[in-house]
Amino acid sequence: MEPTPQIPTLRLADDAAMPALGLGTWKSAPGEVGAAVRHAVEVGYRHIDCAAIYGNEREIGQAIADCLRAGTVAREQLWITSKLWNDAHAPEHVRPALERTLADLQLERLDLYLMHWPVALAPGVGMPRRPEDILPPETMPLERTWEAMAKLVDAGLTRHIGVSNFSRQKLARLQAGLPQPAMNQIELHPYLQQRQLVTQCQAQGIQVTAYSPLGSADRPAGMKGQDEPILLADPTIGEIARQHEASPAQVLIAWALARGTAVIPKSTNPQRIEQNLAAAGLALTPEDLQRIESLDRHRRYVEGDMWTPPGSPYTAASLWDE
Ligand code: A2P
Repeated sequence: MEPTPQIPTLRLADDAAMPALGLGTWKSAPGEVGAAVRHAVEVGYRHIDCAAIYGNEREIGQAIADCLRAGTVAREQLWITSKLWNDAHAPEHVRPALERTLADLQLERLDLYLMHWPVALAPGVGMPRRPEDILPPETMPLERTWEAMAKLVDAGLTRHIGVSNFSRQKLARLQAGLPQPAMNQIELHPYLQQRQLVTQCQAQGIQVTAYSPLGSADRPAGMKGQDEPILLADPTIGEIARQHEASPAQVLIAWALARGTAVIPKSTNPQRIEQNLAAAGLALTPEDLQRIESLDRHRRYVEGDMWTPPGSPYTAASLWDE
């Protein structure tokens, strides 16, 4: 593999070029995330994936500002994504939420702003503690939040808007006469390949970003199942990695890129940050791809069960439409 490979780009519907490999920052701890972002930009990352709910945008903003000031990179070369948290779905809360994120990130404009979940929470709620914290979908329709997000593009506060965790059915609701989402960011890896959703999005000009591409083994204990399969320890992935003298993480990242999706592996470790970027230079063979295709088991690591406790207006079936 080349040491500093070219990062492929994805073309959005308006022809903007998005670097397909970015740095994830979910679970990147305060006190560590700034150094991770600085290191990533220094070694060649040009895409940082953020979200207000990750609680680390201020530190990321400082790191980006440091890189810009040092001349490591120019603002136009960076692709910065963030996400609207679920408690700000009311149309009047959408713009103030983005303005807070922009202030934290020390930016005038984002490249992409996503609706983080198709789930609305009461204002001020980070994670729901009681069923009443979760608003019934009828009282806060996704279309209204989306209309408010479209105004952010007109106001110059973000270049593109998109969604995350959306099923085909929920995407179809936004496509009826409204601006089309540029992106759907969803959980994707060999155990959750979602082939139909990916190909349908891509056929409709909605690009797709793979989150939790390495299986997010560092997520909070409360989000983990007992005896869950560890993606990075999968024997087939391990064998393919050995054949290419690569690491399992690099195989997972190369697979996501080979499918034409963007991918945002999270790391705060300098060596792994570099290793993950180098995966852009790993070319999997058709046989590798076929073997990985056979690993699909529709296994979510992010099940969304925080939105579906007893008494919630959502069920797993209504959340994922499956
Ligand atoms: P760390 O941050 O210490 O590197 P995901 O992107 O699916 O959420 O997965 C993130 C998890 O994978 C974190 O625990 C992260 O740990 C770990 N990780 C990131 N890159 C690699 C790598 N190249 N090899 C092994 N583990 C990795």
